[in-house]
Amino acid sequence: MSLNVLLIGSGGREHALAWGIAKSPLLATLYIAPGNPGTESLGENVSLDVSNHAEVQQFIEDNNVKLTVVGPEQPLVEGIADYLEKAGHKVFGPKKAAAMLEGSKEFAKDFMARHNIPTAKYEVFDQDDFDAAAAYIKAQNSYPIVLKADGLAGGKGVLIPESEAEAMEALEELRSGSLSGAASRLVIEEFMVGEEASVFAICDGNTFKVIGNAQDHKRVGEGDTGLNTGGMGAYSPAPILTAELLAKTEKEIILPTINGMKSEGYPYTGFLYVGLMITEEGPRVVEYNCRFGDPECQVITPRMQSDLLEIMLNSVDGKLELTNINFDDKYRCTVVLASGGYPQSYEKGKTISGLDSVNDAMIFHAGTKQEGDQIVTNGGRVLNVVGAGETLKKAIDQAYADIEKITFEGSFYRTDIGAKGLRHVD
Ligand code: AMP
Ligand code: GLY
Repeated sequence: MSLNVLLIGSGGREHALAWGIAKSPLLATLYIAPGNPGTESLGENVSLDVSNHAEVQQFIEDNNVKLTVVGPEQPLVEGIADYLEKAGHKVFGPKKAAAMLEGSKEFAKDFMARHNIPTAKYEVFDQDDFDAAAAYIKAQNSYPIVLKADGLAGGKGVLIPESEAEAMEALEELRSGSLSGAASRLVIEEFMVGEEASVFAICDGNTFKVIGNAQDHKRVGEGDTGLNTGGMGAYSPAPILTAELLAKTEKEIILPTINGMKSEGYPYTGFLYVGLMITEEGPRVVEYNCRFGDPECQVITPRMQSDLLEIMLNSVDGKLELTNINFDDKYRCTVVLASGGYPQSYEKGKTISGLDSVNDAMIFHAGTKQEGDQIVTNGGRVLNVVGAGETLKKAIDQAYADIEKITFEGSFYRTDIGAKGLRHVD
């Protein structure tokens, strides 16, 4: 049996997923919509309007696609899985109601409260109800405090004021600023102290398998300073997550999440991303995402020795329980090469040189474009350079040895990716 697969997305995460799927003996043709120059050698990049579900359905039927894998959250939150499944097609990724774990912070927080899943204490307000929100903040009288606009806000919906005055300004900003209209509800929550790490599971509605863990580096600058980004680099596994912490995360967080979603009538399928704060009291949830992480996928997929496509098919068919998932025992570290100015405005179309000189690292493309016989920049996060090694240090060194060889006008990268992981290694 071999089958055609459609993968939706265009980032580094999708290049890594395409690489994993393309290794499968079960694959006939892989289509990637829209893909990037990195995915081109693994399948056929196709131009589809992903928000037009009827167009995607037509493509699936015209090309005998047997499985659609959705990379990013937006199409999932918009209900692409519901639409295609209703038309009789298999989709790897949660339905709209289940994707609300990421799509609505209010839903996620209320869900965790209903199922006793450890997370920050919180209260929800109408974004316009400045007085009630201000009164709550003043009553808490504990800073920093965390303000989150409900709904997908591309990482820009979270403000962490450090004083009452800053909190009042932040409330005003949320009500009247660029975020108004992004959401009508506001979650105010306790600030959790600790280090962040993420655990990833694959789910079939009834059960789950953990497929790895990682630490991302969200800030643009060295030493976790500067603006938030989509992620400037990651490594896996994360030594901060001891076997004991991982067991606790499965038992107290992932299992009740899967059971809770099922019992409430939204069985969770696809990748589940659990963002954790490792606090003194143990792991607590910062956020859920309804998809794989980017760049975390780029360090976890290469560790997977089992057939990714087979695992996805088993998950869609509700047969995950019988599936074994094996990993190699190497560390991976990815460093993101970014466009000057990112995460704010940056120029595109810069010629990338040095890709041919890379030795051992794997390269996953993100914001790149083919122009004639050249690859040029086409986004903020341009390339992922992934090193591997028996130790975290070796994986980091391999990534940096090769990222130095790739340049374009204005390119930059963080030089301390993985350093916080080394602190937890003997
Ligand atoms: P979120 O979009 O919910 O992941 O929040 C974005 C970032 O804000 C997280 O990655 C954390 O660094 C930080 N953050 C969010 N909620 C909290 C919290 N309750 N305590 C501490 N930091 C938080
Ligand atoms: N790297 C963070 C995310 O994928 O949300």
